[in-house]
Amino acid sequence: MRGERMASTSNAAATASRVARQPAGLAALSPQRVRAVKIVLWLLALLPFIRLLYLGATEQYGANPLEFVTRSTGTWTLVMLCLTLAITPLRRLTGWNWLIRLRRMLGLFAFFYGLQHFLLWIGVDRGFDLAYMIKDVYKRPFITVGFTAFVLMVPLALTSTNGMVRRLGGKRWQALHRLVYATAVLAILHYWWHKAGKNDFGEVSIYATVVFVLLGMRVWWWARKGRVPDVRQPAA
Ligand code: HEM
Repeated sequence: MRGERMASTSNAAATASRVARQPAGLAALSPQRVRAVKIVLWLLALLPFIRLLYLGATEQYGANPLEFVTRSTGTWTLVMLCLTLAITPLRRLTGWNWLIRLRRMLGLFAFFYGLQHFLLWIGVDRGFDLAYMIKDVYKRPFITVGFTAFVLMVPLALTSTNGMVRRLGGKRWQALHRLVYATAVLAILHYWWHKAGKNDFGEVSIYATVVFVLLGMRVWWWARKGRVPDVRQPAA
């Protein structure tokens, strides 16, 4: 009888310690909940695009439509880049591992808005004139930097599928995807240069601080542990 009581006490203790070790609350979202979060985030990330379509259809772009749409798409490219870069630090600080499943989608949205921003420059600003484009990239440093930032995003978007991760292998894939750090720094430089002419650094300073903190955290972790938190998959 005494033995039985002891056995049941030790079973209860083992269960309690297992429960204590299991992640709780937001750290342990079920796959269904993660899918729901992904859908909501997808809709939210698409809103700026829908807003642009709506403003276009109702002729609300203002006096300079090209400037309005270029600025809007440029800003959203940067916002999506910052959100993508925020995933790893957030995941590490909170222990919410499911956050990694949002990263690929955010990165692809950054590319989506970046592509619109770039296509506007190609088609509307430069009128598909290749010579004019080359001259612009060559002559205007802020365009040179923006152009480089976008070009670096192309291999990241192209290798964002699970198949490409398998083909490249985790290590090579990870090394390639570190290009996103260069993209973020160049994007800030592009924005900064653009605003330098008007001596208006208010907003760009905020983005620069965010990028500095997000990259700084990685450097800090890397310096302390010898490596950045290990995130091998592209996130489903
Ligand atoms: C990662 C890539 C890029 C990011 C994050 C980015 C971001 C931005 C941002 C935030 C602005 C300023 C928005 C504002 O004034 O409120 C801007 C402006 C601009 N960007 Fe980019 N950009 C990128 C790539 C490019 C590329 C590839 C081009 C063309 C080759 C380009 C051309 C321009 C132009 C022409 C403007 C000035 C718009 C105006 O004021 O009329 N950008 N960009």
